[in-house]
Amino acid sequence: MILMNDFDYLNSGEVYLDSACQSLRPRPVLNALKEYYEKFNSCGERVKYPWGVETDRRVEETRKKVLKYLKLSSKDYFVSFTLNTTYGINLILSQLDTNDFDSVITSDIEHNSPFLSTIAFAKRANIPRVVLSRNDDGTLPLDGDFRRAVVVVNAASNIDGRKLLNIKELIKKVHEEEGIVIIDAAQAMAHSADILQKTEPDAICFSAHKLYSSSLGGIVVRKGLLEKIETSFIGGGMVDDVEKENYLLSSEKNPDHFYTKFEPGLQAWGEIIALGEALDWLNKLSKRDKKNFEENYTELFRFLNSSEKIKLVNREANPTMSFFVEGVDSHLLGGALGAEKIMARTGYFCAHYYLDKVRHFPPLVRFSLGYHNRPEDIEKVKKVMEKIV
Ligand SMILES: Cc1ncc(COP(=O)(O)O)c(C=O)c1O
Repeated sequence: MILMNDFDYLNSGEVYLDSACQSLRPRPVLNALKEYYEKFNSCGERVKYPWGVETDRRVEETRKKVLKYLKLSSKDYFVSFTLNTTYGINLILSQLDTNDFDSVITSDIEHNSPFLSTIAFAKRANIPRVVLSRNDDGTLPLDGDFRRAVVVVNAASNIDGRKLLNIKELIKKVHEEEGIVIIDAAQAMAHSADILQKTEPDAICFSAHKLYSSSLGGIVVRKGLLEKIETSFIGGGMVDDVEKENYLLSSEKNPDHFYTKFEPGLQAWGEIIALGEALDWLNKLSKRDKKNFEENYTELFRFLNSSEKIKLVNREANPTMSFFVEGVDSHLLGGALGAEKIMARTGYFCAHYYLDKVRHFPPLVRFSLGYHNRPEDIEKVKKVMEKIV
């Protein structure tokens, strides 16, 4: 029940089903953010007064918590903060040394974030771009040519929650062929972190706002990747020395400062600290909390899957599910659900290529659940959907 108290700001009857876009933030996360702004609002990394010292301590803690959450070692990886997943992927791709790569590979079920940024990278590097079709179970076919490839794929889809089940094999294969793997973990971090844990990609990009935290992005980078980065996005907080026409990057002098390589300018210190709190909160969830969550989305999937008129994209139950109702415009349906205080997304969810051009679906409705949802929410959605459909 502690869990539900953490979302006590929800009004009666409100059913939020858009967690794939932004999770609702539990109270401890909101409190952590408020505490920073009210009690020690200060710049990190630069100030010696007590507020700044406290900011630095907590930011450093969050970096460690992110690595611990992913079961990765600080010997091999570091964590930088940025705006969101999209920004993280672009920060890396736009600074990769193009001489090191022969192709860029992505898949058909990607969000526009990797889908478009890989188009831009292929153009900049003047190399071919390959769009692989993901298997129905989410795995990526590995029989193609991965030689010196940059592979950018999601670990879980924002359409139907499909997971990259062969992530380990993919990384092994690409590394053997001298390529790199950048994982879009926007959807995987909150509910499928197990798939990321102990795998060793070259970078993992995620959005804290989809991880029960404040609006923020993170990138977890394998230290070896820095050899392939040509820093061009640069400014304050990144240098130890500056001359008229030159500079010395902090990340070049001190391995403890590798993270500065991707953190130009002032950071969102309060939001970073709140992310640390969100990770603590997630780690405290009980087996029962997780089971309840699973029961909720499984029941909703079962309901949607049992209707003749509802055409589900999902093949199996996942926290995120997309569908359309035969003969009903999805946007109108979204409006009707909204009128009943059920908040769900409609459209193509930034996965235009796959949903529109590959599958030729009409705009869809997406239900994406979170830990805040209760069985009453599911019962309400079923009732309202029955009435509408
Ligand atoms: C799978 C996936 N990748 C990338 C993104 C982009 O995330 P952001 O908008 O936070 O950068 C999203 C957002 O929904 C997503 O679901």
